[in-house]
Amino acid sequence: MKKEILVTGASRGLGFCFVKRYLEEGNRVFAGYRNNAGGLKALKQEYGALLDLVVLDVADTASVEAAVGEIKELTNHLDIVINSAGIHSDTSFEILEITNLDDCSFVYNVNAVGPLRVAKAFLPLIRNGNAPKIINISSESGSITWSGRVKEFDYCMSKAALNMGSKLLSNYLKEDKISVLAVQPGWMRTDMGGPNADLDPYETAVKLEKLFQSIKDLDTPIFIDNEGQSIPW
Ligand SMILES: NC(=O)c1ccc[n+]([C@@H]2O[C@H](COP(=O)([O-])OP(=O)(O)OC[C@H]3O[C@@H](n4cnc5c(N)ncnc54)[C@H](OP(=O)(O)O)[C@@H]3O)[C@@H](O)[C@H]2O)c1
Repeated sequence: MKKEILVTGASRGLGFCFVKRYLEEGNRVFAGYRNNAGGLKALKQEYGALLDLVVLDVADTASVEAAVGEIKELTNHLDIVINSAGIHSDTSFEILEITNLDDCSFVYNVNAVGPLRVAKAFLPLIRNGNAPKIINISSESGSITWSGRVKEFDYCMSKAALNMGSKLLSNYLKEDKISVLAVQPGWMRTDMGGPNADLDPYETAVKLEKLFQSIKDLDTPIFIDNEGQSIPW
């Protein structure tokens, strides 16, 4: 059955590849972008009514609520919400003595609070979805058990917080039969991952789309890798 899907951070990187992949499969997609739609305009020309471009800044409640208003005019349900928007601060890769810790709160707002802001605002549409799923694109960098890094305080801490947010959301939404996942996509060649990364983001989107389809059990592990294997918190 064709699905209705919202993707945040859809202007580029993994979010853009999710939009492309779900459209190729004949689904209807709402693509959230901030101020630059990037390659989405070309997809709109190709897919027409199957794709709606919606301004959606996950760091800004008013922007998220405006996006809900816009999408409510177009559909009464969402089957999948993919929170792909994510950032590092400018000094994330600097050592502690140099990194600007004052940037941590903004990164936390985008990476950890953003997906919850989206889930909260879109909940009425998600509750109307068919076997609905909220997919938060997390990172193994948010695993405290696995952590070996000495930098990226802003990013790693925000992803650990996103994992907790995903667990709380999963607890809360179990009664509604809404699945919540926190997914480590793998190291991808995007603006964030850089040119030396292992994985192509489009191939990752193809793989993850199949993985999400295969997950039907609400009691499945929440924090998983791109094979669906559990990652320790
Ligand atoms: N790349 C990797 O190797 C890797 C590994 C593990 C996890 N991840 C996670 O995967 C997700 C996608 O990463 P990526 O590699 O595709 O990153 P990317 O290429 O840097 O793209 C980031 C996307 O997030 C959007 N974004 C940033 N701030 C936003 C905001 N406030 N509201 C809405 N959208 C916003 C950007 O929009 P603009 O174009 O407007 O800036 C862009 O579309 C992220 O959550 C990231 O943490 C990535």
